[in-house]
Amino acid sequence: SEPAYQEQYRPQFHFSPIANWMNDPNGLFFHKGNYHLFYQYNPDSTIWGPMHWGHATSGDLVHWEHQAPALSPDAAGMIFSGSVVVDHQNTSGLGQNDQVPILAYYTAHRMDWEQDHRLDFQNQAMAFSLDDGLSWEKYNHGHPVLFNPGIKDFRDPKVFWHSPTQRWIMLLAAGDHIAIWNSGNGIDWDYCSDFYGPKLEADGVWECPDLLKMPVGNTQTYKYVLLVSVNAYGPFGGSATKYFVGDFDGRTFTSDQQNTLWVDYGKDNYAGVSWNNIPREDGRLLTIGWMNNWEYAQNTPTERWRSAMTVPKRLSLEKAANQYLLKSHPIEALKSLREEAIAVADVRLGHPAPQQQFFTNDLSGAFELSLTIMESDAQQFGLWLHNVQGDTFQVMYNASEQKIITDRSKAGTFFSREGFYSKPTFVEWPKRYPLKLHLLVDWSSVELFVQNGEKAMTNTFYPSTAITSITAFSHGGNSAFENIEVFPLKSIW
Ligand code: FRU
Repeated sequence: SEPAYQEQYRPQFHFSPIANWMNDPNGLFFHKGNYHLFYQYNPDSTIWGPMHWGHATSGDLVHWEHQAPALSPDAAGMIFSGSVVVDHQNTSGLGQNDQVPILAYYTAHRMDWEQDHRLDFQNQAMAFSLDDGLSWEKYNHGHPVLFNPGIKDFRDPKVFWHSPTQRWIMLLAAGDHIAIWNSGNGIDWDYCSDFYGPKLEADGVWECPDLLKMPVGNTQTYKYVLLVSVNAYGPFGGSATKYFVGDFDGRTFTSDQQNTLWVDYGKDNYAGVSWNNIPREDGRLLTIGWMNNWEYAQNTPTERWRSAMTVPKRLSLEKAANQYLLKSHPIEALKSLREEAIAVADVRLGHPAPQQQFFTNDLSGAFELSLTIMESDAQQFGLWLHNVQGDTFQVMYNASEQKIITDRSKAGTFFSREGFYSKPTFVEWPKRYPLKLHLLVDWSSVELFVQNGEKAMTNTFYPSTAITSITAFSHGGNSAFENIEVFPLKSIW
């Protein structure tokens, strides 16, 4: 294990670069047994700067091997976010000697043009690999393949193959909308359509789109889910990812959804997109997000490195009443990190015993906790995750407000000090039991999955030492906590 991964706050089972700054996941694709993860990377500093694509690979999506950065800035600009596809049919003609070409699309961001107040400083360029994604050559010396038509924000190409039309589709974030382009060869691109969605009073710049074809529940009916990350005005301030459920005919995405739905109701899951080229018989929709928020990402109190990814997640889509619901689930393979389960006896709380520390141990601060609240007539109940210093991350159900709330304001000095960053996050949750909670706790994050992924809440926090104890509480009534299970988790490093 790398000594770097012992630093204070270092995630033990989440991906983070050995050193320096990381933001969005990029170019996620699966090929010949390897999951590739590229990411926005500044190899020279712990703050954002000249962006590269960092690179890591994994056979199981759990353990990662660091690779050399794949793409570095050039005369066309910095290497911003984008995606990778495997060109199985060699539509690009770039394949050689039966070697399937792999195509990486990214935004070339020209700082000099931006400073000159030109609007077309973001163009789409391409690189290709003829060795299964290990090394990359810029196509046409890094000259763009898709020139900016004059839109200030025009970036984050997500490309995928659309077999009914036999065309590549490219989604681009274009300020306040998504622009859709297509191509037969992945090199020459044609404009198709724009998608705006319902107008909101306050909306951030749109970034990092993805369009997912998903079965509805276990049916053979498919819907398309458009993911859009917005870098401000998330539900709790700062950046967050929303989604629209609709249809796609190869040129146009349509949705009659009027309300705003969020992928995650915490503060720290941004720019998540899906892995391309997952084998069809497997068909899983897998994503990973940047576990941070532009509101404070450059100030977080880590020293050699900055930012981690969420755990990889599987997404599913369900229809509930008149609404579609995008669910997220930690991938099955994470179970390989479990140490032996520690079973905990049921806990009944309320009058006269409103709280009980039901677990304390040297968990090494990385663990998984699941439990079911079988019934409750309490006004508030929940969990405190704490360390010996008393730093406490709170997960609570407020029955009168019918909300699930996460609160990191007392979980270490960084967020308690930083004013509005410390505000609790919440999701509406009508009272119903049993209620199942599943938590993944690392040295500086908590990922909460409610009712098998119906809602997800991802938050970072910076406790002075890792979390080692768990207390349950029930105020203003009684609550029964059952099926309590704790799994200490092994480090992936
Ligand atoms: C999203 C984003 C993208 C851009 C990249 C730059 O977090 O702003 O829109 O490509 O980061 O690093």
